[in-house]
Amino acid sequence: MIYSKSWSELDTMHRANSIVLDILRRLKEMVVPGITTADLDRMAEEWTFEAGALPAFKGYGRGNRPYPATLCASVNEEIVHGIPGPRQLKDGDIIGLDMGVIVDGYYGDSAMTVPVGTISSDARRLVDATEKSLDLGVQQVVVGNRVSDIGHAVHSYVKGLGYTVVKEFTGHGIGRALHEDPQVPNYGEPGHGPRISEGMVLAIEPMVCAGRSDVVIADDQWTASTADGSLSAHFERSVAATPKGPWILGESAPAR
Ligand code: MF3
Ligand code: CO
Repeated sequence: MIYSKSWSELDTMHRANSIVLDILRRLKEMVVPGITTADLDRMAEEWTFEAGALPAFKGYGRGNRPYPATLCASVNEEIVHGIPGPRQLKDGDIIGLDMGVIVDGYYGDSAMTVPVGTISSDARRLVDATEKSLDLGVQQVVVGNRVSDIGHAVHSYVKGLGYTVVKEFTGHGIGRALHEDPQVPNYGEPGHGPRISEGMVLAIEPMVCAGRSDVVIADDQWTASTADGSLSAHFERSVAATPKGPWILGESAPAR
């Protein structure tokens, strides 16, 4: 069941995502060699409560192993769902920072991949391409389009650069739950799946790999890494379909 949101619901989700984006930008400033992923998680949680929000990921169920932190911190070959801990970041790493909050019962969910110190040009190209693919996906959030137009835009762009997309995880509808229908795969033929209608909110989250896209899950049952150890990057925004075009929640509404 896909739930369309009213303007007042979109406003609440905009506030939730403003908090997430603000915290992600502040975390980005803290990402320097030597800091641990647990340090970043501690700040993320403190700032979430300070903003009057609740962490969305902490305690999120998957079987008997609820997610234990506020932040997902995924380093280098880790794709998503890296659990923060004592690992110290080092110069040349890339780190995916993924966060969700709840405000007045509504979820915000966004992510970015940032450099630690000076990174290789290969890593830079992968991160930039993943961010660009998110942007191309966002541009497809147009009333009347189909959900698969998003994944098609993401995949055709990164494939052209020699990269692969992860198929095991997808973007998703978002609202009163972190994960609502529909799923939003990062690949596919255009013109398939549900039609995008006014008030739909989709979390679009390309996960792009420099090598093969096969995934392995760590013993912690969460951390997802590339099986071949190749670098991976992840960006995410929650995007509303409006009559004026895509609204990246947490940023200003479209003016057109
Ligand atoms: N942005 C991710 C997602 O939408 C983060 C989920 S972490 C979890 O799936 F712990 F909440 F599952
Ligand atoms: Co998400």
